[in-house]
This record gives sequence, structure tokens and C-alpha cells, in this order.
Amino acid sequence: MSPQPDLRIDIERLLARLIELSDIGGIDGTTGCSRLAFTDADKAGRDLVVTWMTDLGLDITIDGIGNVVGVWRPESMPAGARDLAPVMTGSHIDTVATGGRYDGNLGVLAGIEVIETLATAGFVPARPLAVAFFSNEEGARFAPDMMGSLVYVGGMGLEQAHRTDGIDGAVVGDELDRIGYLGPSPCPGLVPHAFVELHIEQGPVLAEEGLDIGVVESVQGISWTEVTIEGQSNHAGTTPMRLRHDAGYVAAAVATFVRALADELGHPQVGTVGMIDLHPNLVNVVAATATITVDLRNTDNEILTRAEKRLQAELDRLAPAEGVTISTRSLARFDPVVFDAGVVELVESAARAAGATTMRMPSGAGHDAQMMSRICPTAMIFTPSHKGISHNPAEHTDPEHLAMGADTLLRVMTTLAGDRQTAS
Ligand code: GLV
Ligand code: MN
Ligand code: MN
Repeated sequence: MSPQPDLRIDIERLLARLIELSDIGGIDGTTGCSRLAFTDADKAGRDLVVTWMTDLGLDITIDGIGNVVGVWRPESMPAGARDLAPVMTGSHIDTVATGGRYDGNLGVLAGIEVIETLATAGFVPARPLAVAFFSNEEGARFAPDMMGSLVYVGGMGLEQAHRTDGIDGAVVGDELDRIGYLGPSPCPGLVPHAFVELHIEQGPVLAEEGLDIGVVESVQGISWTEVTIEGQSNHAGTTPMRLRHDAGYVAAAVATFVRALADELGHPQVGTVGMIDLHPNLVNVVAATATITVDLRNTDNEILTRAEKRLQAELDRLAPAEGVTISTRSLARFDPVVFDAGVVELVESAARAAGATTMRMPSGAGHDAQMMSRICPTAMIFTPSHKGISHNPAEHTDPEHLAMGADTLLRVMTTLAGDRQTAS
């Protein structure tokens, strides 16, 4: 049965779930939340979402990295159809420590909402539909980001993922076990027929252009490097400047260099030093060690590689100049990704059929969809982010845009399942 062209998701139900989930790890005085991967708050969020999946009668599996997949096979589905590869949607429910309500959560809860809308309407898809939440998309506690989806598609072995140390000394495998999400399902996981992820843009473009939906064609490449600088602590009052081996100074010089480099390479190159850890971190002591992170991104892999080489050359220059030792460790390196042209086109026509104005765009943020695109036709749907703010508790998207995004997702999923010839 084809869905009625005017079948719409229930925005009040979607909003209620977004709010209930963001109350877990809620940050006082804001609508944001803090649910770093594999923490107690992440576990509580997972448990709630699994309850909603269970209530919908989804077949739920949990794999060895804690990815949760819920497959909807309505009882009246013909036997042959039940075994077909599902059309999958999903995203993540872990957040950065200062996260908003929508990043990742929207994609997961909209997937649940789409299935509930279709089930309530008595719709039986031509193949199963699935909604997933992937572990540790943020990478803020354990690098790399998109760890769960990377393992899901076979891009990282389970053992290696389990051994990963976090910024707080915790280890992924131990934490997964502790929170009860070290599941039995195999990785790599079930290969979907296609994958589509709804996500907030997390940038200013759609809001500035006054448009409703972003049709995401690509994701920029990501390079994360941890830089450790070892100098010598000494007295801040007595040590002449010429005799210093100041790890704090070098950390600051790298941060300044990264900004200048991004400015010089120009848009879309971006560069961020988001973490600086100084020791002993005291007012009157020259810092002995500094550990910093450098996040470089570009849609053009050649320019990204050039930026990485320029960073290394600057580190090679700074080390002897200040008499410090500098070592580096790659935390994440993902090439830019181009999504499937057919699914991108489908997102565009579905968004327009849902009444949205659209533009095609790349994604500046990393997403689980970029991993899923390694194994099946994939694309993404963006909704506008108020003032372009994200990774911030103030993150906001208007309900009408959330609804348009979820309505678009419904149309794309049912069309991909083969229930319509066109999205409109
Ligand atoms: C992950 O969400 C990233 O883009 O940093
Ligand atoms: Mn996200
Ligand atoms: Mn994020």
C-alpha cells in the first residue's frame, strides 16, 4: 500500500520525545544536555530510546560496539518482503559535554516517528524499515568520531575499538560492558538497501539563506591530531626568556598558526585547537607539558593534506626554536565523502513535495551517514540551525523545520523501499 501523499508525522509527539531525551543529562538553565559516549547518562538515554523502539514492536539488535538497530517488519508483511534488506535511517544519541537537544537525537527520534506514523496509518512497506543509533559519534570522549558506524561498516576492528582510551582514562570495551551495551550482534552489521540520515545543519547557511531543507551532497574530510609538547617547568619570575622551554607558549603558537593557516587557505578550510591541557597549569610556573588537539577539515582532500603537511612543518620549526620535544598522534582521518546521486535527488524531490525550499550543500560536520555510504547508497537531509549554533546547549531548530525534515525523511524512506515511483 502506498502512503497517502499527505501523510505527515506528528510534530508534537516528536518534540515530546526530543524534550524527554534531552532531560537526561540536562544542563541546568538550558535546553541542552551532556551525554558523553558510554557514560551513565548515555546509558539512561539509550534505555529510553530502546523502550520507544520496543513499544513500536521493532526487532532490536545490539552489536559489539553498542550500536542499536531496530527493524520494523509489520506482522502483515508478506514473508518474502520480511527478509529483504531494510531501508535504514538513524544517527546518534551521544552528545558533546556541552551539547544541544537536536544534534544526532533528531535523526534517531525522527526515524522512530516515521515508523510510528506509518504504523498508525496501517501502512505496510514493500521492504523492512529500520532505525539505528550508532555509538560514540561525537568522539569527544573517545576518538575517533563516528566510531560506532565506522565499526558497523568494517572500517575499524572491534578489538581495536574496545581498546580505545578516553580523555578521562576510561576504556571503550570496559565502559560498554559496564553500561550493559556490549551486545552479541556481529560487526560488520546488516547491509541496508539504502541509508538516509536526518540531521540539523549545525552551521549558518540555511538560516542565512532563509531556506527550509539542505540536500546534503557530500561531507568534508576530517583530520584530528593530538600534539604533545614537552618542555621544562621553571620559575616564572627568575627564568630569562632566552632560557625557557615553554610548552605553554608553543601550544599557543600552534593555535595561532592553525588560525592563520585556515585564513590563508581560505574557505572551506577550517582549523580548530579545541583542547589545551597544560601542566602544571600554575600562575608562576613555566609549563612543562602541553597536550593539544588540532581539528582540520576541508571538502578538498588535496588541500586538507597540504594543511596537515604545513602543520607538521610548523611543529618541526617550533620544536628546536623553543627547545621542546613535540610528538603527534593521529586521532581521526577521514577523506571527504560524496553521497549517492540518486538518493540525493530523491531527498531534493521529497523535500519539495513536503513543501520545503531547498539547496544542495556539503556537510561541515562529520556524520554516521559518511560511514554508511561505504556500504550502501546514502544521503542526508539537513534542517536549519538557529544562528548556525551547535555543539552548544543553545542549539535550536524551529518545530516547523523539524516537521519538514521528518516529513521529507518519511517520503524518502517509503520511496526507497519501493512503495512509490516518485517522492511526490
Ligand atoms: C562530529 O560530530 C564532528 O563533526 O565533530
Ligand atoms: Mn551529530
Ligand atoms: Mn555533534
